[in-house]
Amino acid sequence: MDPIRGISVTGTGKRYAGIPVLSDISLKIAEGEIHGILGENGAGKSTLLKIIGGAVMADSGTLRLNGMPIKISSPRDSIAHGISLISQELSLIPNRTVLENVFLGRWANTAGLVKGRRDREHFTALIRETGFELDPDMVVSRLSIGQAQQVEILKALARGATILCMDEPTAVLNEMEKANLLRVIRRLSAAGTTIILVSHYLEEVLDICDRVTILRDGHHISTADASGHTPESLVSLMVGREVDFLMPDIPPVRPGAVTVLEARGICSNSVQDISIVVRRGEILGLAGLVGSGRSETLLALFGADKVSAGSVAINGQRVQPNSIRDAIKAGIALVPESRKDQGLVMSRSVVENIALATLGIRSAAGFVRGVAENRAVADISIAVDLRGVRAGSPIAALSGGNQQKALFAKWLLAPPEVLLVDEPTRGVDVAAKSRIHSMIIELAAKGTAVVVVSSELEEVIGLSHRVNVMRRGRIVAEFDRNASRDDVMASAFLK
Ligand SMILES: Nc1ncnc2c1ncn2[C@@H]1O[C@H](COP(=O)(O)OP(=O)(O)OP(=O)(O)O)[C@@H](O)[C@H]1O
Ligand SMILES: [Mg+2]
Repeated sequence: MDPIRGISVTGTGKRYAGIPVLSDISLKIAEGEIHGILGENGAGKSTLLKIIGGAVMADSGTLRLNGMPIKISSPRDSIAHGISLISQELSLIPNRTVLENVFLGRWANTAGLVKGRRDREHFTALIRETGFELDPDMVVSRLSIGQAQQVEILKALARGATILCMDEPTAVLNEMEKANLLRVIRRLSAAGTTIILVSHYLEEVLDICDRVTILRDGHHISTADASGHTPESLVSLMVGREVDFLMPDIPPVRPGAVTVLEARGICSNSVQDISIVVRRGEILGLAGLVGSGRSETLLALFGADKVSAGSVAINGQRVQPNSIRDAIKAGIALVPESRKDQGLVMSRSVVENIALATLGIRSAAGFVRGVAENRAVADISIAVDLRGVRAGSPIAALSGGNQQKALFAKWLLAPPEVLLVDEPTRGVDVAAKSRIHSMIIELAAKGTAVVVVSSELEEVIGLSHRVNVMRRGRIVAEFDRNASRDDVMASAFLK
């Protein structure tokens, strides 16, 4: 690491609609450093990254590269300075190949048609540099999200990026892909690339970063060597108070609790012969690798994926197959994996989104109206800590983690018979994460039967009474909550 070379921001500030989201941030990141940026949801991490990456203009402050002030007012400017932003929403062209995506836009006058031998050679060199295993001729739409992210990294490197700004890159990856990405980050850093990494995974940050910066409410709280930190010290700086880390106790299922959800022999395009029984107050976890059929199981139960065989019953009553309408009527709720595509209406306000799910049913029953509805929504926003967020702001203006909380909150207004949750705490900060865990446990304690899918083994084991492991569309093993991480991992991977 060369302390003189590197990128710095001085006095950087940003407001949205007059409200400061970053105030007077000064920070220097040395060349070749892996620098972590931590903070609660809405702290301003993505905004800072976007300013460095040219996607957002700061209102004030100076950006310097190797001591020289630079002006960045578009992503093109930042690329010219070797800075690349890899956000959570990847920017690839789905119907083009890996090779085309990596070199796309580099030759402005060939309209993106790149087939030359030089590009293939360059591609091979990049593959060697990173150790990725990617077929250059594969169409991007057929890649897993982890592979698509690799393409995005290659694209940055092909453009000569020496500073990679990565916004929660591991949030969407499975354990193996995560380990792989961290290995590549280390490798790139050793070769002189600077990495700025936003992540909610504290262990990961402590493990991989040289130094860590903590933001709170848009302010710079601290920058220090990672080796001087513990997860606890990070959290207290992020939150400004002590936080209970442990997974709350889950009350045992009452002896003799009746069966709420009973699925028998469910088959769809993605899953085979899925049989699941969940009792009143029980939380069933679904573990497995990405692509093992966990999300598809939830979609089949919810009537959203076409089911070709099998049956679902709620409290002994058969649910019409392939009908989301009937599933909702029977009391099944789904909190889906992708908040943007499946869960939230981005242009509507926070309040509208929270109320949307239940408003129809509730006003029909003459149960909650107007003021009472707003009250209930307000209570829930506080419970999931959307406090800093104005109820009338459109969901699109919320930080990623706060969008996730809003999505979750909307179902808590009317506890369902069955709650299906997919990756409930993805992109959510530690404090909010334990709050969401408590809410799931509380819902179960009130009698809801819960099925939870999570790629985080600690979460799925800690949160569930029982864990079913899926592999290639089937349930292949069942564990109780005393199972070890290794046992569950082994059954997810073994052939
Ligand atoms: N386009 C926008 N318009 C209005 N407000 C915005 C916009 N983008 C971000 N904000 C606000 O700026 C603040 C910081 O958002 P940012 O996305 O930087 O947070 P973050 O630290 O990345 O959070 P998370 O961990 O949830 O991703 C939030 O309060 C957010 O609502
Ligand atoms: Mg963010």
